[in-house]
Amino acid sequence: MPRPARVASAVNVHIGPAERIKGRLTAPADKSISHRAAILAAMADEPVLITNYLEAADTLSTLEAIQQLGALVERRDEGLMIRGVGLRNAQATATPIDVGNAGTLIRLLPGWLAGQDGSSFELDGDQSIRRRPIDRVAEPLRLMGAQIDATDGRFAPFTVRGARLSGIDYLLPVASAQVKGCLELAALTAEGPTTITEPHPSRDHTERMLAGAGVKITRAGDALTIGPTDELTLPDQIKIPSDPSSAAFAIAAAVLVPGSRLLVEDCSVNWTRSGFIEIAKRMGAVIITDLEPRPKDGGISKTEPISDVDVTAGPLKPTTVTADEVPLAVDELPLVGLMACFAEGETRVEGATELRLKESDRISAVVTALNDLGGEAEATEDGFVVNGHGSLRGGQVDAAGDHRIAMLGVVAGLASEEGVEVLGVDAAAVSYPGFLDDIAALR
Ligand code: S3P
Repeated sequence: MPRPARVASAVNVHIGPAERIKGRLTAPADKSISHRAAILAAMADEPVLITNYLEAADTLSTLEAIQQLGALVERRDEGLMIRGVGLRNAQATATPIDVGNAGTLIRLLPGWLAGQDGSSFELDGDQSIRRRPIDRVAEPLRLMGAQIDATDGRFAPFTVRGARLSGIDYLLPVASAQVKGCLELAALTAEGPTTITEPHPSRDHTERMLAGAGVKITRAGDALTIGPTDELTLPDQIKIPSDPSSAAFAIAAAVLVPGSRLLVEDCSVNWTRSGFIEIAKRMGAVIITDLEPRPKDGGISKTEPISDVDVTAGPLKPTTVTADEVPLAVDELPLVGLMACFAEGETRVEGATELRLKESDRISAVVTALNDLGGEAEATEDGFVVNGHGSLRGGQVDAAGDHRIAMLGVVAGLASEEGVEVLGVDAAAVSYPGFLDDIAALR
């Protein structure tokens, strides 16, 4: 498998209105699951073959990071063969670990590093990473016994000094799979069990993989308890499913462009990632798929469900997205804003303050983009409100380094009356390198 180059320069593109979106799409591999598979493989003793790993900037940063920590990554035709160093043997690094733009990497990795007794690790990233606080992981890791020294107390670059950790009982102040995942990794090397309670359920990929790796992990309501372990016994092979967050952009295009019909094949339908499809269906979108039901008991599945997603264009109505839905659709909320412009009336997104801490301040970025395109959007303290008029004129969107805003601009262009010029569309490459080609093939 050739190693793709990182994208550096800013590329602008004009996306004209589409007559329709038609055809089949296999979305790229899931970013969240790719990060986790690589990190857990690095923490394991036995080799793991990862197939369909996401070859995008963010997840390449993860491969570089685990190699710096001593894991071996071999590119084979069938996938990536990762030979880990074991739970407690991460090698101290001579130079800082550069996470690039990857927020998930900079929050998950400290969970493992915190348990490397006596070793120190420095982590840093790009300008966008340096404005995103890491105190949300630093605080609980300190409670477990690690020492974290961060710039201005809460930003990258920061140092993690590993220690013998103790299990804690921790209530997450916000629902965040990144913070939850970090603590789940730290729990593996801690003394005694760790209990993590979330205000609302967030994506559960780490739980599924840990359950599949023989870790003692149980759920009671919103509380997860993880016991320490000596070794992760991952399956010999892990196949990464398609990313529903990437698929969502094409799905939104097919919902919005009249006459469209799109089949997204083999897409992850994990219930903790299906919020966007639920919201779109509530807005009237015609989407046929087999979403995984929300589990009633406390069981933790060891697998990731997949299904085809069949989308037909149709009229939309406004809706309100509430705080409990936000973690289940967190990366797709910009698309909810866009779809709301095409509905008649007021759509609200509430309880989404987290959006201010993404690759950009996404509340402000979405509102600016929609207004620049002729929409009527307003930021609120914890989200945004869009007054939809059934259509969108078009204009210019500046991605400002945020991949989801770049892709939002492209979808807006397809559905607009006059087209959209997207500045910095190459930002999409951190999660979906072939996005423009895939869209072009569907026009
Ligand atoms: C992610 C969790 C979400 C999401 C991000 C990926 C993950 O962030 O926005 O793109 O892989 O755990 P938060 O956990 O901060 O909500």
